[in-house]
Amino acid sequence: MSPPVRDGFTSTFGVLLATLGSAVGLGNIWKFPSLTGMNGGAGFLLVYLLATLLVGLPVMIVETMLGRAARADAISTFEQVAPRGQGGWQVIGWMGALSALLIMAFYSEVAGWVYAYVVKAMTGEIATTDPKAAGAAFGALVSDPVASLLWQWVVLGVTGGIIMLGVSKGIEAVTRRLMPLLFVLLLVLCARSLTLPGAAGPGLAFLFSPDLAKITPAVVLTALGLAFFKLSIGMGTMLTYGSYFRADQNIPATATRVMFADLSVSLLAGIAIFPAVFAFGFEPAAGPSLVFMTIPAVFASMPGGTAFMTIFFLLTAIASVGAILSLLEVPVAILSERFGCGRKRASLYTILAIAFFGMPAALSQSLTAGINVFGMNAFDLYDFLSSDVMLPLGGILICLFVGWVYGLPRLQEQLGNHGSLQNDGLVRGVFFLVRYLTPLLIAVVLLHGLKVF
Ligand code: TRP
Repeated sequence: MSPPVRDGFTSTFGVLLATLGSAVGLGNIWKFPSLTGMNGGAGFLLVYLLATLLVGLPVMIVETMLGRAARADAISTFEQVAPRGQGGWQVIGWMGALSALLIMAFYSEVAGWVYAYVVKAMTGEIATTDPKAAGAAFGALVSDPVASLLWQWVVLGVTGGIIMLGVSKGIEAVTRRLMPLLFVLLLVLCARSLTLPGAAGPGLAFLFSPDLAKITPAVVLTALGLAFFKLSIGMGTMLTYGSYFRADQNIPATATRVMFADLSVSLLAGIAIFPAVFAFGFEPAAGPSLVFMTIPAVFASMPGGTAFMTIFFLLTAIASVGAILSLLEVPVAILSERFGCGRKRASLYTILAIAFFGMPAALSQSLTAGINVFGMNAFDLYDFLSSDVMLPLGGILICLFVGWVYGLPRLQEQLGNHGSLQNDGLVRGVFFLVRYLTPLLIAVVLLHGLKVF
């Protein structure tokens, strides 16, 4: 039987956009500011930048490389590239599928809040600079079990429909045109936030002047988890997307560009939010609600705020689609390619599984608020287990696989498709990192952060 013809990205630029579409999402607008606020600001940002460079970038390069080398789903990849008899590496793919479900279980809820805020922005009900009123508006949404569930299901319906109908190409076209607009709106927000009375000084100090005493092992682990989450690595998204890459695509260059673009969106979100936090007296450590309170406040203090606010949440909702599609693609590719269910059924099963796992996350501030595991509600537990444990673990395994099993010659063959000596030096550098330094760093941060030693 001849292998099925696989769908793939047709242009170098398309690859860059799809990879960027996966990276940029609620992680930039929602998770990065929340975590930066909760973990003391600049020190966290510094560790996050280091984690992105020393861990994120090399893992992203080799994960994408493996995907392209194997051209298969996240589990079957390791059948293609591991030596015969070493089936154990497939655990990376299984763990990835589970991570995708766990991440989607809370990510779809946050996307649901964003959808809800599009409507609330239009009606003007969240246009306030008063922390109490802003907190009450957000609280009313998350403590309403029916609204929480329904918005999550709307998100799952919309994104499930897109992946089922295979219209993701069309979505890519839409995203490509609208994302520059999100970037511009973020710039406008930054300008307004920085010029609020008494905002720029404390806001920028919080974000850029680190207090090293605040960098605890737990903070470092959170920053590492964010680096994985942001670049969509450690669980098979980049294995799967890499499998759609063209043979002549320059993987290190693509990964580096995506990393820088992604970082700049996060930084803009930070600069839009923290000055306003201090200007209006919000609590920087508010957590997941931070963005939903401060962004409306900044818009409320400028002319045309209602319209801009609506457009902002709409664009954020659209940005989340690219990220969600890349998360769904992992289990959908596994089910449809490895287990031979059609793409429609694979999508349906995946969405149903997420709706099931997602319920406790959606209800974690209403019906199931009293139920805690390890002192965390379902929402926080899913986030912690996936971002801070499973993604780093997946990252270690991918590094060890490439560094000790796959080997330098094959890595050179895969990445050295651009000829120059300089490039060979770079490939050797990546190899050194993933063979020794990166997995060691992840392991130390993980064990230390989890208080194993
Ligand atoms: N990177 C996306 C964001 O920041 C989320 C995401 C998409 C993701 N695919 C992923 C996170 C795979 C971890 C793994 O919004």
